[in-house]
Amino acid sequence: MTQPINCRFQEVTLDDVASLKGVAAVFVGSDRKLDACARKANTLSRKAIERFVQSDCFDDMKSGEAARLAYPTGLAVEAMIVVKLDRKPSQEEARKAGAALAKEKGAMHLTALAGTLGAVDDVALGLILRDYDFSDHKTASPKLRGDATFMVSKPETHDASKIAAIAEGVFFTRDLTNEPANVLTTTEFADRLAEMQALGLKVEVLEEPELRKLGMGALLCVGQGSVSPSKVVIMQWHGGGDEAPFALVGKGVVFDTGGISIKPALGMEDMTMDMGGAGVVSGVMKTLALRKAKANVVGVVGIVENMPSGNAVRPGDVVTSMKGDKIEVVNTDAEGRLVLADVLWYTQERFKPVAMINLATLTGAIIVALGHENAGVFSNSDDLCGAFLKAAGAEGEGAWRMPISAAYDKLINCRIADMRNTGGSRDAGSITAAQFLARFVKDDTPWAHLDIAGVASVSGATTLAPAGATGWGVMALNRFISDNYEV
Ligand code: BES
Ligand code: MN
Ligand code: ZN
Repeated sequence: MTQPINCRFQEVTLDDVASLKGVAAVFVGSDRKLDACARKANTLSRKAIERFVQSDCFDDMKSGEAARLAYPTGLAVEAMIVVKLDRKPSQEEARKAGAALAKEKGAMHLTALAGTLGAVDDVALGLILRDYDFSDHKTASPKLRGDATFMVSKPETHDASKIAAIAEGVFFTRDLTNEPANVLTTTEFADRLAEMQALGLKVEVLEEPELRKLGMGALLCVGQGSVSPSKVVIMQWHGGGDEAPFALVGKGVVFDTGGISIKPALGMEDMTMDMGGAGVVSGVMKTLALRKAKANVVGVVGIVENMPSGNAVRPGDVVTSMKGDKIEVVNTDAEGRLVLADVLWYTQERFKPVAMINLATLTGAIIVALGHENAGVFSNSDDLCGAFLKAAGAEGEGAWRMPISAAYDKLINCRIADMRNTGGSRDAGSITAAQFLARFVKDDTPWAHLDIAGVASVSGATTLAPAGATGWGVMALNRFISDNYEV
């Protein structure tokens, strides 16, 4: 498990600046004015900071960028990092500044001389999030990552544990999503979720015999070609009163070969991230538990592996869902919707949630439509959708609403069964997938489906994450829950 670095907040002691070890940082806005911390470092370093902020180099820096003054005279630190940031930065600029510090800090301890700077918690969060490194499968000893101390004027107004709760949720999602499928088997996934009972979550693991009893023929057919058993894991956080919970549902395909409708070899290894939806649900549940959220939330994930074998489901097979609807599996690679159909139905039947959001790396077509900047949002409720988009916007996690309607729904009608699991062509591929899910959502359940195929894992670094799993959605959903379901 990747542990976030430790961030502490303590009172500014200017007398200590000369003898600080590791690296230190000061923050200077575009007005070039030095605050008390920067002034102190400037005097000690015989005006090195002043010379730098008067230079063209500082002029050319964008807000949130950092520059390194190495081995400054008069200071014990190995480098003084000058971060360009106004005293009242936006959340986005503050997080970007934190991310820049993560890169400059490396293995060393960082003392950020923040003083009265605004949005310091976001600087800290950006720093922690960008300092993620998935190195479990590198033989060399892991890269050292130094901790950080923020010297601030009012340490009591900063809650390091709340920041850590978010970071730990995001890291949990990233670790699960990055993990190869021979390590993160269905059983290993369920075990890692069961460990969260130590945090006060109630975790249940439903095994195949129970799933069969429940009639989950859609979910079960996906995993029937794999030696790894299919599972449904239910995580309950009871932090509110006796009201019905808000529900999160996730697609947890630990590996998607496509099954008998097998995928091409090129890039198939990326399908280790096909449990990304379940990964986000798990990360959010972890954050809620760590920060003891005052809300009732249930997370339900369907964990399966999609493999070809003599026992695998075939194209043309007809399966019966828990709801009772019969589905012709015309393409075994459209498996995520089969898993979600039963998990969505189970969640509504058992919990009667006030609202339900599912996450899934559901379609390649959403990447064609939106690339890697935005998840696709499909919803039967303008209110729910609007509230989610607002939370995602506030966290800087891209999300864009897509349409659903009766005309698209018709495309999954089927000659021999109630429906088929694709629209039969590539046209509107993400929408026909959403229409399939919508058939398993009750009319009175406000629901949104987030297609995260393009954002769950990316090939290049983003502002707050190195290449690979991003943890997209953990912060948006955490905020969505706190804004809408907590008092
Ligand atoms: N897991 C894939 C979708 C996916 C593609 C996720 C790329 C991440 C990156 C999903 O199960 C799938 O195979 N979808 C098919 C559906 C098609 C067969 C109707 C697709 O998108 O091609
Ligand atoms: Mn597939
Ligand atoms: Zn898939």
